[in-house]
Amino acid sequence: MKLLILFGLALLCGVESLKVLVYYPLPVRSVSILGSAVVKHLMDAGHEVTYVTVYPLKNMPPTLKQVDISGNEEMVAKDESLSIAHMLENNVQDTDVLFVQEFGKELSSQTFSNENFTKFLQDTSQRFDIVIADLFESEVCAGLSVVYDCPFIWFYSMGAHWHVLRLIDEGRNPAYDPDYLTTTVAPFSFLERTEQLWARIKYTVLKTFITMPAEKKMYEEIFTPLVAKRGRTLPEYEDVIYNASIIFGNEHNAVKRRPSTPQNFKYIGGMHIPDPVTPLPKKLQDLMDNAKHGVIYFSMGSFFKSKHLPKSLVRGLVKTFGELKETVLWKFEEDLPDLPSNLHILHWAPQSSILAHKNLKFFITHGGLLSSIEAIHFGVPVITIPVYFDQFTNARKAVENGYAIRVPLNYDLADNLKPAIKTMLSDDTYKKRVTELSAIYHDRLVPPGKEMVHWVEHVVRSRGAPHLRSPALDVPLYQRLYLDLLALILLILYIIKRIINILTRKSPKKNDKKKKN
Ligand SMILES: *[C@@H]1O[C@H](CO)[C@@H](O)[C@H](O)[C@H]1NC(C)=O
Ligand SMILES: *[C@@H]1O[C@H](CO)[C@@H](O)[C@H](O)[C@H]1NC(C)=O
Repeated sequence: MKLLILFGLALLCGVESLKVLVYYPLPVRSVSILGSAVVKHLMDAGHEVTYVTVYPLKNMPPTLKQVDISGNEEMVAKDESLSIAHMLENNVQDTDVLFVQEFGKELSSQTFSNENFTKFLQDTSQRFDIVIADLFESEVCAGLSVVYDCPFIWFYSMGAHWHVLRLIDEGRNPAYDPDYLTTTVAPFSFLERTEQLWARIKYTVLKTFITMPAEKKMYEEIFTPLVAKRGRTLPEYEDVIYNASIIFGNEHNAVKRRPSTPQNFKYIGGMHIPDPVTPLPKKLQDLMDNAKHGVIYFSMGSFFKSKHLPKSLVRGLVKTFGELKETVLWKFEEDLPDLPSNLHILHWAPQSSILAHKNLKFFITHGGLLSSIEAIHFGVPVITIPVYFDQFTNARKAVENGYAIRVPLNYDLADNLKPAIKTMLSDDTYKKRVTELSAIYHDRLVPPGKEMVHWVEHVVRSRGAPHLRSPALDVPLYQRLYLDLLALILLILYIIKRIINILTRKSPKKNDKKKKN
C-alpha cells in the first residue's frame, strides 16, 4: 500500500529533469538579473540549464553550462547616446522607434556571429527540451526552436501590450492599450488616443517594411545551414516567430489597467526577488539598524551610471542630502570627497535587502521595471526620476497609482528633489497606498518563481501546449476585420444600384414615349 502511494506521488510530482536553453543576449544588467533568476528557479527544480549570457554567473554548480557572449557589451559601451549625461543634455523624453527596432536586429546579428555562441551552435550533439528566449524587439532567435526541434517560450522583461501580444494573439485596441515607447497611460484624452493610433501605425509600417524583411533574411542566413546540418529544412520565418508556446510577462496583478491577455500570457513579475532576502552585509545592517531618523535609499540603477552625472549636479545632490537628518544611502560607482556624516556611498547595493529593512522610509529611483516591482513587493514609496525608455511609463503608472512623486531629470534636480523629499517625509498617503498595492501583489496562489517553473514543465509535458494557442493567429487580418464581408456588401450594393439604374433608365423612356404619344 505504502509503495503504491509512493508510486502515485512520484507520478504526480516527478517531472524528469529537463534540458533547458536560456537565451539572454541583451547587454543590460537589470535584464540579465531576470535571466539569472530564470536559471536559478529552473536549477532549484532540478533541471539542467545552458545559459547564453553577457554576464556569466559565478560560483554556480557544474551542472550549469554557460555560453559567454560578453562581447555584446561593446554594443552599449560604444554608444554615447545611451549615457545619462546625453539624456540630461538632450532632454530625451521619447524613444526613437526605428532606433529601437534596429538595435534589436543588430543585437541578433551580433549574438549569432559571436565566436563562443557560433561554436556552441555548430555542436550537433546538443539536445534541448525547450528554449526560453528574452524578447527584445527582434524575433530572429525564435529559430533556435527549429535548430533544437523543441517548443519555445518568450520571456518579456516588461508587461503586456500590443507589441508582444501580437506574437501570440493580437494587439488590443490602441484606445486603451498603450504603446510602451510612448509615455502616456490609459485612460487617454482625445489627443493621446490619436497619438496612440499613430504610434501603432508608425511602428507597424517600420517593422513590416524595413526591419522585418532584414530580419527574415538574417534568419535564413543564420539558420539554413544549422538546420541542414541536423538533416532538416528551415520553415518559413512567419511560421516560426508566431509559434511561441507561452510569453512570460514581468509584471503583476497590482498594476491597474493592464490590457486583457490570452491564456498563454503568464504574469510572473517579482520572480527575481530572493525570498527570503539575503542578509545585509554587517556594516550596512548596523548602519540601517542604528539610523534613528530612518533611511533614504537613492539609486539610478545599473545601466545609467551616477558617476556620469555632471560634477555640479553631484555637488548639489550631496548638499541636498547633507541637509537632511535621515541617513541617506546613495548607490554611486565612485568615492566622493567631503561627504556629510549622514550620507553614505555604496559602490554596490544589495537592493532587495535594503528595501526590506524596516527603517527604510522611501526609495529615490530611475523607475526601471525591476525597481518598480521591488518597491511594491517591499511596500516602499518612491520618488521617481525617469531617464529613458519604459521608465517614463513606469513613472506615470507609479504616480497614477498614488505611491510615487515624479521629479524630472535636469540640471535643477538637486533643488527639485527638496520639496519632493519633504512631502514624502511628512505625508503618509504614499506609504499607505503602496502598502495596499503590496498586499494585492502578494495575494497569489503560488510564488512567481514556482509558477514560472510550472509553466515551463507544462509546455514540455504537453509538447508545446497547442491547447493554449489563440485562435486569432490562424485567422488572417482581412477575416478578423471582416473585409471580405465588407467587400461582399459593397458588391451587393453596387449590383442593386445598377439594377435600380437600369430600371429607372427604362421608365423615363416609357414616360417620354407616352408624352410623345
Ligand atoms: C568568449 O568566452 C570567453 C570566456 O570563456 C570570454 O572571455 C570572451 O570574452 C568571449 N568572447 C566573446 C566575443 O564574447
Ligand atoms: C510550432 O510549435 C509546435 C509545438 O511546439 C511544433 O510542433 C511545430 O513544429 C512548430 N512549428 C514551427 C513551424 O516551428
